[in-house]
Amino acid sequence: MQIQDVFAAYKDDMQQVEKHLDKYITSEVKLIPEVSHHLIDSGGKRFRPLLHLICSHLCGYSGDACFPLAASIEFIHTASLLHDDVIDEAIIRRGKTSANNVWGNAASVLVGDFLYSKAFSLLAEIGDIKIVQLMSKMTNIMSEGEVFQLMKCGDTSLTEAEYLSIVEKKTAVLISAACESGAVLGGASKEQKQALEQFGYKIGMAFQITDDTLDYMAKEEDFGKSIGKDLEEGKMTLPLIYTLSKCREDERNMIRTTIEKKAFSAEAVRGIFDLIQKSGGIDYSLNRAHTFIREAQDGLKVFSTGPEKDHLYAVAEYILSRKI
Ligand code: IPE
Ligand code: IPE
Ligand code: MG
Ligand code: MG
Repeated sequence: MQIQDVFAAYKDDMQQVEKHLDKYITSEVKLIPEVSHHLIDSGGKRFRPLLHLICSHLCGYSGDACFPLAASIEFIHTASLLHDDVIDEAIIRRGKTSANNVWGNAASVLVGDFLYSKAFSLLAEIGDIKIVQLMSKMTNIMSEGEVFQLMKCGDTSLTEAEYLSIVEKKTAVLISAACESGAVLGGASKEQKQALEQFGYKIGMAFQITDDTLDYMAKEEDFGKSIGKDLEEGKMTLPLIYTLSKCREDERNMIRTTIEKKAFSAEAVRGIFDLIQKSGGIDYSLNRAHTFIREAQDGLKVFSTGPEKDHLYAVAEYILSRKI
């Protein structure tokens, strides 16, 4: 089964989610729908809402609360992208000029805040305190991850463990909550809830590791964002961290000086890309992602065989092959 088949199976439900996304970004303050539509209509994968819908179904939920909940998850994701693109001074997002580049930083930050608060008002309307607790704790951790990453920006001594902690906080916890909240809606057992929380966490880790690897190897047309951006920002990600631990001392000094002095000439960047390839930084990172995916899939054994389990399996598999 391919990811397209999974999306096809949830076509009607995803349309409900889209309706909610559309409905809740209306505002008499025109800049809000303008900026929100720019990003929301520009073809995000909708990977997190999809996961929420699958997990709700898997746990036997058949009500309507999964639609506003999935929308609120996508709003939190969208808000984090608006803020992230300000921090990262991004030029393009989803193949289009990024919002910060069209409307400026202040508008991006404020509309991001609107989307965050909208997400929480939707969650409050659903009225399940367990969901509110789960989502508020998670959002708080995401912010912590962004601040931790900011503190470590340009720090060439960042360890793999610190990197993994950033990834967990900024990316994996949201994907994990998308899955776990489906279990909460479905009134799943503690064991099943934990299994989905872990599944989301592990595929979330793999998702960010592949994203960070694609930053060194994807085609910009496919990826929808600039390549080599992490290096230029001084963002220490797994391919680079591994390379620094494996390369020769003169090579390590070259990488460190380039990052610390922000001396990103075309030649220096090419040199670092080559070293990452040569030292196996790409393969190591993809292997790491692979291990997370296999562990995630393995953890689904607490569920009996059925279409939703196959869907989760296919979504996890897709992360390893994604180019966008
Ligand atoms: C981008 O997430 C941010 C990361 C966690 C790497 P996605 O790759 O899911 O972004 P869209 O929503 O599909 O654009
Ligand atoms: C993920 O980090 C951002 C969030 C979790 C918001 P990145 O900075 O790698 O994301 P992209 O590459 O800009 O999408
Ligand atoms: Mg970014
Ligand atoms: Mg990235």
